[in-house]
Amino acid sequence: MTVVPVKASRDYEVLIGAGLLDELGSRLRRVSGAKTAAVISGEHVFPLYGARAIASLEAAGFRVIHYVLPQGEAAKSLAVYGKLLDFLSVNRMTRGDVLVALGGGVTGDLTGFAAATYQRGVGFVQVPTTLLAAVDSSVGGKTAINLPTGKNQVGCFYQPLLVLCDPTVLDTLPEEEFRCGSAEVLKYGVLGSRAFFDELVRTPIHKQLEHVIRTCVEMKRDIVAEDEFDRGKRQLLNLGHSFGHAVEACSGFTVLHGQAVAIGMAAITRAAAAKGCCSQETVDELLAALEQFGLPTHTEYPLDDMVRSVYTDKKLDGDTMHLVVPEAIGRCRIQAVPITEVRDWMRLGGIG
Ligand SMILES: NC(=O)c1ccc[n+]([C@@H]2O[C@H](COP(=O)([O-])OP(=O)(O)OC[C@H]3O[C@@H](n4cnc5c(N)ncnc54)[C@H](O)[C@@H]3O)[C@@H](O)[C@H]2O)c1
Ligand SMILES: [Zn+2]
Repeated sequence: MTVVPVKASRDYEVLIGAGLLDELGSRLRRVSGAKTAAVISGEHVFPLYGARAIASLEAAGFRVIHYVLPQGEAAKSLAVYGKLLDFLSVNRMTRGDVLVALGGGVTGDLTGFAAATYQRGVGFVQVPTTLLAAVDSSVGGKTAINLPTGKNQVGCFYQPLLVLCDPTVLDTLPEEEFRCGSAEVLKYGVLGSRAFFDELVRTPIHKQLEHVIRTCVEMKRDIVAEDEFDRGKRQLLNLGHSFGHAVEACSGFTVLHGQAVAIGMAAITRAAAAKGCCSQETVDELLAALEQFGLPTHTEYPLDDMVRSVYTDKKLDGDTMHLVVPEAIGRCRIQAVPITEVRDWMRLGGIG
């Protein structure tokens, strides 16, 4: 088992290891005196892993209740959030109790936000079951739900008590979802480590899963330790996301997040090369890696639609957008770009 300590407004550990799901109860007991644990999970994941999570929690003396969320991104809505809070209240959850997010990023984001706001904050634990959640969304304390006008428009920073990652639960993850997570994995290589990028290209992720999760979590941990509230360095983690979110929005969220991030990384890197920030070899290497991972590198959405979507993005700061611009594989910088110039960056990125 790997232990990655995280230092933030609340310190906690990320535990990574095969079989940890069955230790959920005893591991949680060390950091929580809760009487009741509410397992929050999705329609697909709960039938797969709910029983093991509940058995482990009960063995450690928790009273366990559970709530099954509707499938997909739609669960991150005000309506579902409201129903979840009602469920917690009706079941007399108190401030000392704990929520368990058993699932991917959707479950983690919604459960985290519910934990942050129910009775002004109850403890919660992340049990990521997708590659994306394991390497990214379960760590760092960003919680959110969506509004009809855009993703993650409502949320807060709220750190978990514990992150417990059992890589064996990824065995049942559909291939396409695994590929989406691999876009975020590759993102870490591009933004911070040439050596890691090379490892990823050399050896399939599933053959070095624990190492990959650990490396990503440590990189994210280090960035979050410097900038928990996303005012500076943490924005590096948005590599590929500004244009990626526009792709998601244009598709009505039918393009998966990881696919959109892959397109966004490809586009910003092409634009960076066109503007002389990085070399053409950097573009070629990134595109080759994305293709090797089975990820898309282009979008057909019209430039005007993409520009419009970018205007509603959270990453807009007044009239400025902070773009994460690759300088080389393993090194990126944050660049403030006037919103009037974003169209040009997108065009140079091959959009439209
Ligand atoms: N908080 C953050 O820092 C952060 C970072 C990145 C992304 N996110 C958010 O994460 C969300 C995307 O997360 P995601 O990609 O994990 O999507 P997801 O939670 O929707 O899970 C993807 C799919 O995989 C299924 N699934 C999950 N685990 C499974 C398993 N072990 N076996 C079989 N099926 C399984 C789910 O039912 C779902 O259909 C987005 O809403 C995004 O905004 C948050
Ligand atoms: Zn992402």
